[in-house]
Amino acid sequence: MVYYPEYKIAPSLLAADYSKLREEIEDVEYIGVDLLHIDVMDGHFVPNITVGPDMVKDIRKSTELPLDVHLMITHPQEYISRFESAGADIITFHIEVFIKENKVDITSLQKIFREKHRARLGMVLNPPTDMKYFQPVLEAIPLDFILVMSVNPGFGGQEFIPDVLNKVRYLRTELQFKGDIEIDGGINHDTARSAIEAGCNILVAGSYIFKSSDRKKAVELLRESFKK
Ligand code: DX5
Ligand code: ZN
Repeated sequence: MVYYPEYKIAPSLLAADYSKLREEIEDVEYIGVDLLHIDVMDGHFVPNITVGPDMVKDIRKSTELPLDVHLMITHPQEYISRFESAGADIITFHIEVFIKENKVDITSLQKIFREKHRARLGMVLNPPTDMKYFQPVLEAIPLDFILVMSVNPGFGGQEFIPDVLNKVRYLRTELQFKGDIEIDGGINHDTARSAIEAGCNILVAGSYIFKSSDRKKAVELLRESFKK
């Protein structure tokens, strides 16, 4: 499959005010963003707990935006279909939970990707995770969506780790990866530019959009980074 990546902006709801979630969602939808990023944390894979499938189902009722659900959980295979039924359009899960004794459990990944899915599936890697684990994955499964974490997952508002951009360059140049590369953590107008230059095409931004006093301007500044 040949896929030509498009540039997209995905505000992360983690930084929104949950006491008025519908308004928060409508606000970014009105500004004009491309996806809604929802962070699911289980208090086990990461030291924080957020939302589950029921919440995603209610969010689905509040917006037309595609829902980009990022699973930071230890057993993603047990929850993918529940998030699909809840209305997720993209579901990403971490490669780290499939690494056992220095090897990726390709069989389990093949099983997941062989099943029929309504949502698009993608894989995530954390800043310390070595790229050597990705080559066998790309050879074995039809992966066209990769999320590169640019902070250690678990919390919003952390500082961008520039070294992760070497992974993005490696994916685009050495591995000739042509699919979507999303970047998540510490994105603002400066870090967005370097992420796009390295080869990312989807920007997740939590604090930079939701905590801004001018969200429209924040989104415009992120879109500026798409210009060559
Ligand atoms: C972190 C989450 C991110 C987070 C990004 O574990 O995956 O999506 O919301 O937040 P900011 O943009 O504030 O770094
Ligand atoms: Zn995320």
